[in-house]
Amino acid sequence: MPNETLTITDNRTGKTYTLPIYKDAIRAIDLRQIKTGPEDFGLLSYDPAFLNTASCQSSITYLDGDRGILRYRGYPIEQLAEKCSFLEVAYLLLNGELPCEEQLDMWITDVTRHSMIHENLKKFMEGFHYDGHPMGMLMSTVAALSTFYPEARNIHDPGVRKLQIIRLIGKMPTLTAYSYRHSLGLPYVYPDNDLSYTKNFMNMLWRRTEPKFSANPVLARALEVLFILHADHEQNCSASTMRAVGSSFADPYATTAAAIAALSGPLHGGANEEVLRMLDEIGSKDKVPAYIEQIKAGHGKLMGFGHRVYKNYDPRARIIKRVAEEVFEVTGRNPKLDIALELERIALEDDFFIKRRLYPNVDFYSGIIYQAMGFTPDVFTVLFAIPRAVGWFAQWQEMLQDSEQKIARPRQIYTGEAVRQVVRIEERHPQTSALAAATVA
Ligand code: ACO
Repeated sequence: MPNETLTITDNRTGKTYTLPIYKDAIRAIDLRQIKTGPEDFGLLSYDPAFLNTASCQSSITYLDGDRGILRYRGYPIEQLAEKCSFLEVAYLLLNGELPCEEQLDMWITDVTRHSMIHENLKKFMEGFHYDGHPMGMLMSTVAALSTFYPEARNIHDPGVRKLQIIRLIGKMPTLTAYSYRHSLGLPYVYPDNDLSYTKNFMNMLWRRTEPKFSANPVLARALEVLFILHADHEQNCSASTMRAVGSSFADPYATTAAAIAALSGPLHGGANEEVLRMLDEIGSKDKVPAYIEQIKAGHGKLMGFGHRVYKNYDPRARIIKRVAEEVFEVTGRNPKLDIALELERIALEDDFFIKRRLYPNVDFYSGIIYQAMGFTPDVFTVLFAIPRAVGWFAQWQEMLQDSEQKIARPRQIYTGEAVRQVVRIEERHPQTSALAAATVA
């Protein structure tokens, strides 16, 4: 027996069990042998919101929340953000190694060739209200792609998988740009294969009547860096959704649409939009102390602050702060930066935030940059979804190739009624549930 073990005594029975420890974890299924008798199902582990449960083994992203470290495939995020393009990092995440020149050229050609979308999808887009949320449009159009590529269901064929991954990485900016222009009532701009990933995206967003849109190189690089920083973040809410939905062998378009849905929530990717709304609500630097007091009194959360894993400064937020300065040299300073810096300064000195180890996360500064670049807040989360799709595909592939994985299906601890008999409707007394008592607006 290796000495990496855990000995448990069940005080209900007095029996002792020795469980192997593997990489600082025990297997939850090993608890099942702990029973009070032959009829007993066996011990479960109970972990709402997966606070202390590893759901997979992964070699994609390394994150040390206490030390503020983030690495993709072993490479520090700071180096990738400084030295690589987004598509280079995408290749790394999906293939495990950085590409050589020839591989990168081929990869860029592949992705670029798949940036067009079927004309029918434009009709689908036209069905949305002009003020529909872009995340809703992205989620729906990505799901709709599954009807265009029925072969995508064959997820066990590596070649089919690769083609869908390339298609989706190629089409995400196009779908986003179309939804953006749809909301403004502008004609759609087709992808331009001569441009880089981010410059093509900017061209599809902002080209008006000029024959060739020329993106400012500083802004294009800033977007590239933001895309790199957002590309993966191990088992977060949307990546776990991608894995859970993908574990039923749903096709990658349906699976990605589910991950987009998870990202849209304000506690996850939707926080970048909420940060801007919060800064608008605060209005000026002098109102920051009062706003912080309001948060401490339990009225809402400081959006863009706190993280399930980072209990130290989010390394991405540090890089974003630097990118913000570069962007503002081109666009002029976004006055909201001063409010954000004041919020950060006061929060980081305040016992409430220090005790709970709450630091700015990736979303705290990204929205301020996006706004300076000309994006409206409702597009911010879509800007997160484009690069994060790469991480989702890397996680999805890894899950499908992992022989230990099965359909994701947690257990529960049932707390409802014991068995009861249905009585006739005339004999029932009115009961009030929270749902029944809720007032419909
Ligand atoms: N503002 C004020 N208080 C906070 C905040 C915040 N942003 N975040 C956490 N807290 C408090 C909680 O109320 C709790 O206090 P308590 O111990 O007195 O009850 C304590 O800090 C611990 O917080 P939890 O909710 O247990 O932390 P959890 O890991 O579940 O939540 C989360 C992490 C969802 C990110 C949370 O910090 C939050 O809601 N932040 C604001 C939204 C946000 O910025 N989300 C983006 C995250 S990054 C991303 O997904 C891309």
